Amino acid sequence: MRLLAVKWMRTLTVCIMCSLLLSLLIAFVPINNSQYLCAKQSATSKPLFTAGTGFDRHESGHKLAVIVPFRDRFDELLLFVPHLDAFLNRQNVSHKIYIINQSDNLRFNRASLINVGYLLVNNDCDYIAMHDVDLLPLNAQLSYAYPANGPFHIASPELHPKYHYKTFVGGILLVTNEHFEKVDGMSNRYWGWGLEDDEFYARLKEAQLTVNRPHNLSTGINDTFLHLHDRFPRKRDYAKLYNQREVTRRRDRETGLHNVRYELIGKKRLTIEDSECVVYSVRLVCDVRSTPWCQPKTGGATSKQQQQKSSSTRKKKKAGA
Ligand SMILES: *[C@@H]1O[C@H](CO)[C@@H](O)[C@H](O)[C@H]1NC(C)=O
Ligand SMILES: *[C@@H]1O[C@H](CO)[C@@H](O)[C@H](O)[C@H]1NC(C)=O
Ligand SMILES: *[C@@H]1O[C@H](CO)[C@@H](O)[C@H](O)[C@H]1NC(C)=O
Ligand SMILES: *[C@@H]1O[C@H](CO)[C@@H](O)[C@H](O)[C@H]1NC(C)=O
Repeated sequence: MRLLAVKWMRTLTVCIMCSLLLSLLIAFVPINNSQYLCAKQSATSKPLFTAGTGFDRHESGHKLAVIVPFRDRFDELLLFVPHLDAFLNRQNVSHKIYIINQSDNLRFNRASLINVGYLLVNNDCDYIAMHDVDLLPLNAQLSYAYPANGPFHIASPELHPKYHYKTFVGGILLVTNEHFEKVDGMSNRYWGWGLEDDEFYARLKEAQLTVNRPHNLSTGINDTFLHLHDRFPRKRDYAKLYNQREVTRRRDRETGLHNVRYELIGKKRLTIEDSECVVYSVRLVCDVRSTPWCQPKTGGATSKQQQQKSSSTRKKKKAGA
């Protein structure tokens, strides 16, 4: 009887050891991002790409530059680049992905980053996609083809998970080089979060360009895009400083593509799961007299800027000591 009990104990111990080992193994197996995406997809039981409607643009001869204004969102970049590259390959869209990394201590300026991106790459493309890094297209019916008949707003208000007003043109917008130059690109006055796309809409309208949008899709606001912002929530810089609110509600006729100021401080190629992108790191230059709100509010700065500030004062203190 005692012998049996000892045998039982041994078996039990072996079992426990085995399951411990197994769980350790599972815990340390690296999860790669595409698996993460796929897992997410199957969890919601939606295919990553829904059936397409047959694009007829084999080797169209057009070249797309995807321009992605960027700062600090590396986890989103890791998902974005492989996903969009695969998505565009399936549509036979000849493309390159460019990340425009704002590397100064000013507030984020999405529109100026797009202007800079355009200046850096327009020799290599004949149309651009102004593309948020946190918005991944899921429905293969969303066409990234050359928008010959006017800007094509892929993230239309009927499809975007968050923005539903009629004149919204943010998120993802395709524009030909010709049209982008015709409207002098985007305004450079929009430091901080929001409204730069509304001003761009005013430019398009004034130039009498029609904004076209996807129609008759098999998906809606819940399943046309994957919005990474919901997965990696971050505080956005909505502050309105000085007379920013008043100025940014007006059509800007002074600034644009022709006078965006910046300094290119780095260029590197990045490969993420076999998909390539080019990262341009740039320092934007702000004319403090005309847009004093380009500098973060003292005390209200983003945590990263505060960290940078405090670490540089620390360094100074050390140097002085
Ligand atoms: C892409 O090109 C391939 C080969 O050239 C063709 O078989 C396929 O149907 C094309 N796909 C689309 C969506 O045009
Ligand atoms: C963007 O620029 C910052 C600061 O210059 C740098 O630390 C960071 O590595 C850059 N990001 C990428 C993706 O290259
Ligand atoms: C959308 O579908 C409807 C009915 O199937 C059709 O009448 C209409 O022309 C389609 N619209 C576009 C823009 O393709
Ligand atoms: C989208 O999802 C929300 C919340 O799950 C739901 O209330 C809404 O009806 C859905 N909309 C559509 C168009 O399916």
